[in-house]
Amino acid sequence: MDVIPENAYKWQFIENKIREITGEFGVSEVRTPVFEHTELFQRGVGDTTDVVEKEMYTFNDKGDRSITLRPEGTAGAVRLFIEHGLFNNPMPIKTYYFTSCYRYEKPQAGRLREFHQFGVEYFGTQSPTADAEIMELVMLLYKRLGLKGLSLNINSIGCPVCRKEYNEKLKDYLRQNYDNLCDTCKSRFDRNPMRILDCKSPVCKDIVKGAPLLIDNICSECSDHFEKVKKYLEAAGLEYSIDPYIVRGLDYYTKTVFEVIAQNKNSNNTICGGGRYDGLVEELGGSSTPACGFALGMERLLLTLEEQEIEIPDTTNVKLYIGSMGEQCSFFAHKLTHQLRGEGLSVECDHLGRGVKAQLKYANKIKAEYTLVLGEDEISTGKGKLKNMADGIETVVDINAQDILNHINQEEV
Ligand code: HAM
Repeated sequence: MDVIPENAYKWQFIENKIREITGEFGVSEVRTPVFEHTELFQRGVGDTTDVVEKEMYTFNDKGDRSITLRPEGTAGAVRLFIEHGLFNNPMPIKTYYFTSCYRYEKPQAGRLREFHQFGVEYFGTQSPTADAEIMELVMLLYKRLGLKGLSLNINSIGCPVCRKEYNEKLKDYLRQNYDNLCDTCKSRFDRNPMRILDCKSPVCKDIVKGAPLLIDNICSECSDHFEKVKKYLEAAGLEYSIDPYIVRGLDYYTKTVFEVIAQNKNSNNTICGGGRYDGLVEELGGSSTPACGFALGMERLLLTLEEQEIEIPDTTNVKLYIGSMGEQCSFFAHKLTHQLRGEGLSVECDHLGRGVKAQLKYANKIKAEYTLVLGEDEISTGKGKLKNMADGIETVVDINAQDILNHINQEEV
């Protein structure tokens, strides 16, 4: 995926907001490689999921090892947690990441084969306060970005104990229609029947209508946890809806699952997904460690901002463009540029030997806030006109870095 210069500020703006909020929540960044051993995702994400069965970019490297471009960020973050012994630190460990992800899906608006996730993973706490806090974090991010009309939908999909019993109930229900299930669902019937609830085929969708719901069959411990999550969400002033049909597309979830849904007309509405995954660290070779997290798609977030016509402020503009007439003045312009940059000001000048008119056109294009043109007069008198491009007002300044800086700083206050 390409990000062109005139769009980069949007990504940077969102990333800065994310770094601001993760800072407030005490969440630290982690970075993991773009590819991992295929087995990590097979075991982590689950080999009955669409992601693993159909969507992974998997190939053998020159040493004949099977490697896969990460389809999501959680499995890599868990591997990092185990490999670097983070479990030896006081808990919880709160991490976040920006990653590119790769899924061989049918491309459409908001569904890409390469996309980017901002994800958060909390390790080492089974408290419902953690489930609520990660939802609070993401909803605060959306609020600060100015998004409206989002729904936070939550559900509980229980633990391995209650799910085992539920799976039997579900299989009893599905058995009468087994022959009509699609081939993928047939193959999932024994291995992971809950996945059938998530099948996109219209026939399977019809069959699962009326199936028993997991939320009605969770054990008392899971139910107690869910009740507390709801309480903490309410305490944080977060509105939510319960959607008993959320099963999520990945296998590692236990107890709480959630999704954030936008009202987009032209692109995919699921802008964030996550939940608790208390068994994954152990499944991947670590000691038993409860965890929870979420990830949001950066492209879907940008599309949602666009659909809601939210302007992202471009804070990357150049402060001053120094134009020049002829080679001698160009030399002065470059020298002054160098000095002002040394003082921390964002300054541009000509690199193409263009005439002043063309230089000022360029200054306009890059949205320079001030311009100053150096000609022979300016060089000989040591005075020039600093023009504020917003109101067109010109101020006479001495042609030296300090005086120019003083004027710009004075105007800014
Ligand atoms: P996921 O629901 O598969 O969960 O993906 C999370 C988010 O990534 C989605 O809500 C969506 O915004 C974005 N996304 C997914 N696929 C695509 C795509 N093909 N194109 C564009 N955006 C996409 C996970 O990946 C879990 N690892 C989340 C998590 C973290 N759960 C616990 N911790």
